[in-house]
Amino acid sequence: MPNTTATHPPSGLSPKAMVFLTAATAALGGLLFGYDTAVISGAQLFFKSSFHLSDTQLELAVGVVLLGAMLGAALGGWLTDRLGRKSVLLATGVCFGVFSLWTGLSTGLATFVAARFLVGACIGVASMLTPLYISEMSPARIRGALVSLNQLAITVGIVVAYGVDYALAARQDWRMMFISAVLPAIVLVTGMLFLPESPRWLAKKGRREDALNNFRRLGREDEAQQELADVERVLREETGKFSELFRPGFRIAVWIGVGLAVFQQITGINTIIYYAPTILRNAGFSSARVAILGTVGIGVVNVLATVVSILLIDRLGRKPLLLIGCLGQAAMLGYVGYSFAHHRHGLAVFAGVLLYIVFFAISLGPVVWLMLSEIYPTKIRGAAMSLATFANWFANWVVTVTFLSLLDKLGSVHTFWLFAILSIAAMLFCLWLVPETKGRSLEEIEESFRHLGRAKA
Ligand code: BGC
Repeated sequence: MPNTTATHPPSGLSPKAMVFLTAATAALGGLLFGYDTAVISGAQLFFKSSFHLSDTQLELAVGVVLLGAMLGAALGGWLTDRLGRKSVLLATGVCFGVFSLWTGLSTGLATFVAARFLVGACIGVASMLTPLYISEMSPARIRGALVSLNQLAITVGIVVAYGVDYALAARQDWRMMFISAVLPAIVLVTGMLFLPESPRWLAKKGRREDALNNFRRLGREDEAQQELADVERVLREETGKFSELFRPGFRIAVWIGVGLAVFQQITGINTIIYYAPTILRNAGFSSARVAILGTVGIGVVNVLATVVSILLIDRLGRKPLLLIGCLGQAAMLGYVGYSFAHHRHGLAVFAGVLLYIVFFAISLGPVVWLMLSEIYPTKIRGAAMSLATFANWFANWVVTVTFLSLLDKLGSVHTFWLFAILSIAAMLFCLWLVPETKGRSLEEIEESFRHLGRAKA
């Protein structure tokens, strides 16, 4: 296992730059998450014919990544609570590289499915660990923006995958589409070698001096002692047992986390991200080329709106963004359904879908991963995040495998209206249950849940 503390920041780097560089490097985990979930959309046509797959076999080859992600999400927290944030993220980067290469070189359906399952497991680990690591490294004031670099990287990964698919489509080179992920994996691994371990994890392991040094290396010269004292105070109150999550107080944090994770998916984001060409063709974009171009446009809007959210998240706060976003999503989904109902296809549907993406990208996209990294107690933060992240991937899988049949049975109008109603439910959920975490340290957030539990007892 790599030495977690003996590394030093590149010379001449200011502490502020160090925090930013740490977050940006770790966010490459998000880039791989986005790239590897989206790359399959353009690759599938080609490996279907290479391997002579039936439709059912193709569905298996495409969907298996989500099953892998569920496994990775479930195991990731347990691993990182024991082995550290840095070591597990580093190992995940290595595995991403190896399994992406394996996917591109696979010689038949069985090896392809196995490789994609393992890539999925890496995605699952990265999806929970990247925000968690960044959150534990960040000063409270700008934690929202730094952790949301992860979501920005996810969206960039999605667009890059669409672009690579598009560029390699003429050569039908599906193998290179998968192998291209090796490059960001190498950058992630190299960068992680130089980054410090999370001081909060070190404190939990009783490694005081190392924790203090790493707080200092992250630019908190003056606050380091105080931050460590705060961390140690809350650690003394924690049992470190998973069962702590089901006590009054943290029980509510579990509900909030799982609820947010599930609402992020059941309000329909991946029906657009994974099936945009199908939706656009249903809406009357007759040429596949135009539909694919429209999909790239959706990806770009997703990136740009995420940048807006990063600028707002530590000023406006998490909750206002969630409320505006869910309401906007509901309105746009209602409008897309209405357009289908009145046969106002084409651009009307496209505009509605684009605005829906904007509302997702300023709210449920970044805020969910951020809040999951903020609301759990330090000793079991990994395990608790695993639970919510597993729920996220499970809900993603349910929506993905049922969407085409929903379109078939309910039709486009009612399917989009169903997602609109679920977005209203998400808004009410946020209004009633979700606390504001802006500007508060992870320890203050933890203590507020503990007080809630005492007040209820
Ligand atoms: C979600 C993914 C989604 C992506 C789109 C992420 O926050 O977890 O399921 O594909 O955002 O930008």
